[in-house]
Amino acid sequence: MSISDGKNIVLIGFMGTGKSTVGKILARSIGYRQIDIDQFIEEKEKRKIADIFEKDGEAVFRKLEKEMILWASQEKSSVITTGGGAVLDPENTQALAANGHIVALTASPDTIYQRVRRSGHRPLLKTQDMLGEIRNLLQVRKPYYEKADVSFVTDRLKPMDTARQIEEWLKTHGR
Ligand code: S3P
Repeated sequence: MSISDGKNIVLIGFMGTGKSTVGKILARSIGYRQIDIDQFIEEKEKRKIADIFEKDGEAVFRKLEKEMILWASQEKSSVITTGGGAVLDPENTQALAANGHIVALTASPDTIYQRVRRSGHRPLLKTQDMLGEIRNLLQVRKPYYEKADVSFVTDRLKPMDTARQIEEWLKTHGR
């Protein structure tokens, strides 16, 4: 297929909605490069996100995240996969939207919990009551995710199916 407008495709959404996995499949399928913001930060910093949170705190992570997002927003024909908190900063959203289709992935708190409960690498979910924390954070963040151009409910979808649905949407909106 051809998506000829050169705009980026930006995946936003809460932790565990499948952004990185779906983005990888989508990028491969449409011949775009994937820029995974968290992965690029880790490569640049030569350390894990959890380590940045632990040693330097969230504010330092958000600064690094912003720098990476502002850079990525200048790229073309890329699938940009963001961390769950990236869209809380309006300057991030503005930059990403200026040259990209903003696609949100959603899932219920229970689905998210099932997907992330065994992963130890998410500093914001290192808490006794993980499901409660997911609910709290989701409530705060929902309005930000709802600003996307389009949104896909991923609870019952395999990453491959979500990627296909995005591709279908792009055929009518991707230019
Ligand atoms: C975060 C989500 C993480 C990562 C960091 C902060 C968030 O990315 O950027 O731990 O604020 O929701 P994923 O959404 O890929 O887990």
